[in-house]
Amino acid sequence: MTKKRVLSGIQPTGRLHLGNLKGAVENWVRLQEKYDCYFFIADFHALTVGYAETKGLREDIHQLAVDLLSSGLDPQKCVLFRQSDVPEHAELHLLFSMITPLPWLERVPTYKSKIEELKEKDLGTYGFLGYPVLQAADILIYKAQLVPVGEDQLPHLELTREIARRFNFLYKKEVFPEPKEELTEFPVLPGTDGRKMSKSYQNTIALSDPPEVVRRKISIMVTDPARVKKEDKGHPEVCSAFSFYKIFAPEAADRVASECREAKRGCVECKKELAEYLIKYLAPIHARRREWEKHPERVDKVLAEGASRAREVAGKTLEEAKKAVGLK
Ligand code: TRP
Ligand code: SF4
Repeated sequence: MTKKRVLSGIQPTGRLHLGNLKGAVENWVRLQEKYDCYFFIADFHALTVGYAETKGLREDIHQLAVDLLSSGLDPQKCVLFRQSDVPEHAELHLLFSMITPLPWLERVPTYKSKIEELKEKDLGTYGFLGYPVLQAADILIYKAQLVPVGEDQLPHLELTREIARRFNFLYKKEVFPEPKEELTEFPVLPGTDGRKMSKSYQNTIALSDPPEVVRRKISIMVTDPARVKKEDKGHPEVCSAFSFYKIFAPEAADRVASECREAKRGCVECKKELAEYLIKYLAPIHARRREWEKHPERVDKVLAEGASRAREVAGKTLEEAKKAVGLK
């Protein structure tokens, strides 16, 4: 039996943080053991929003590659590449753009909400409207069966299936199979301010944060607001620091919860202890990062080899698609 093909991508917008690690990348690391996995750095997608400020893009891409490799993606076990190194994505996106009705794109929920949310940027562009068409091309060019994503991406996956069906219907050939999502079952990780950890809220802890930065960020993290004094009994279930315990130090969570409820531990010491657990959790990731940092040319080589493996598959699909359309 051949292995199922898995594909997913991540945008190079700032350093990878613990929310990305838990919500996506640790799942990728597991999937690479069992499936035929393609993971990529979505640099074209980063341009749909960040087209006007591209100075940091190259460095962001490099750092993301280092973060992914340090987190345990293994180029012997998966194909890791960057999107713009595989121009077939762009060419298939072009073919799909011909057959995708505008209303399908205008009703994608993230479309209008993102424009609202990022008012300071002009997202009234052709490229931004086409974001999900490009994503469909990313997935379908590998004929991926499984796409590990968070819930926010479900509308994009639905659209991908609609584009696949429409293409196959119009050109009377089953070129594209319909992909399924592989939902990452993971509770949303709070950031230091208690809201979802997200780069746009500036409440993240990055994988590359050194220990002193982790200590500082954890020290300002919100806890149970009802605890003014140490003698006040706490409610760990509403405390962001406690969410971290459950995820990064489950062996300590029960003890912490009961001591908190009985007012036997103060938040300051509780978070100090948490920071040390996190630093321990990050230690192997940091150790691998230091190795890759010594040899940036090895990172480039991984991406180049990944792209050439990806192009082998992508090139074949593109030929098939062009034939079906009548261009060949
Ligand atoms: N839109 C995805 C995100 O923001 C990134 C992405 C681009 C992607 N292309 C993809 C994810 C293809 C899965 C498959 O998270
Ligand atoms: Fe949260 Fe710990 Fe404070 Fe309890 S003692 S509220 S778990 S930080």
